[in-house]
Amino acid sequence: MSEAARLRIAVLASGRGSNFEAIARAVAARSIPADLSVLVTDRPGTGAEAIARARGVETLCLDAREHPGRDAHEKAIVSALEQRQVGLVCLAGYLRLLGSAFVGHYRARMLNIHPSLLPAFPGLHPQRQALAHGVRVTGATVHFVDEGTDTGPIVIQAAVPVRGDDTEETLSARILAEEHRIYPEAIRLFAEGRLAIDGRCVHIRE
Ligand code: GRF
Repeated sequence: MSEAARLRIAVLASGRGSNFEAIARAVAARSIPADLSVLVTDRPGTGAEAIARARGVETLCLDAREHPGRDAHEKAIVSALEQRQVGLVCLAGYLRLLGSAFVGHYRARMLNIHPSLLPAFPGLHPQRQALAHGVRVTGATVHFVDEGTDTGPIVIQAAVPVRGDDTEETLSARILAEEHRIYPEAIRLFAEGRLAIDGRCVHIRE
């Protein structure tokens, strides 16, 4: 891919930022053939922002409270991403539901990571849901984002065993290690132009 056509990635995060860091590390190591253009947060003082600063990645805090109304806030994000010619949006612990205009704008160009084997346990506290349900195996899923909550076409999944003595914390930590592996991998496949969406299914081209 020529420099002019090189993919530009934005990460949207609201919290700790460990997935953002895994992505930034993979980009810096050139495992992902793309540029990490900007980290966008929706609140000040996140862990993700501190990581971005330490790594020299541009950060943009578009505080939702300063853009009242979801549409206004999302328009501000789209405008910032368009200015930077972002071609892939990666949600990494972004705690806001996105409206249909935003989702439509980045259809097939927006990924999310969720700490369960979707379609099991979408939404909030999936690790807690898995423990409460008594499953023996759970995991992590990278998927394209559609209008539903964690319902979009699945790119990569990783399975993680649930142990009898697991707490939400121990299970979350085991899943997180897999998240940090599969999210950069899915982004690499996207950047290489190898993902083809066919209805609910994502085909990975050789
Ligand atoms: C991760 O478990 C991710 O799957 C979920 O939110 C958490 C974010 O963690 N969507 P971090 O901020 O990337 O450390």
